[in-house]
Amino acid sequence: MACAAEPTSSSTPNGSPLPPVIDGRAFTLELANTGEVFEIPADRSALDVLAETYPGIPYSCRRGFCGTCKLTVVDGEADHRDGSLTAAERDAGCLLPCVSRAAGDRLVVRADLHLPSTAIPEEKR
Ligand code: FES
Repeated sequence: MACAAEPTSSSTPNGSPLPPVIDGRAFTLELANTGEVFEIPADRSALDVLAETYPGIPYSCRRGFCGTCKLTVVDGEADHRDGSLTAAERDAGCLLPCVSRAAGDRLVVRADLHLPSTAIPEEKR
């Protein structure tokens, strides 16, 4: 099962304030596609941090409902905080980085459809 949503254009939030991260812990997020490592602060989402480097990363609700931001965890344990992934999707490694986090100190994820091909080193395509 692939954990990538259909590629769509990014959309901005509908203007309502996003809920704050509750009981967040800082963690390290490695993007398996590129080998890049991102430090995710306790008070920010992984999606927010990734979007700084990849502003075209698809997302919509930013609340764990729509599934647009779906990534695949390839290493590490997820702290799922969404309200939409099925048990089968979670078992397959799906993660919604707009709300979900690492249960430990580190997660490695793939963002199969979310990166421009030029961002991915040839040996990792
Ligand atoms: S943006 Fe909607 S679930 Fe992440």
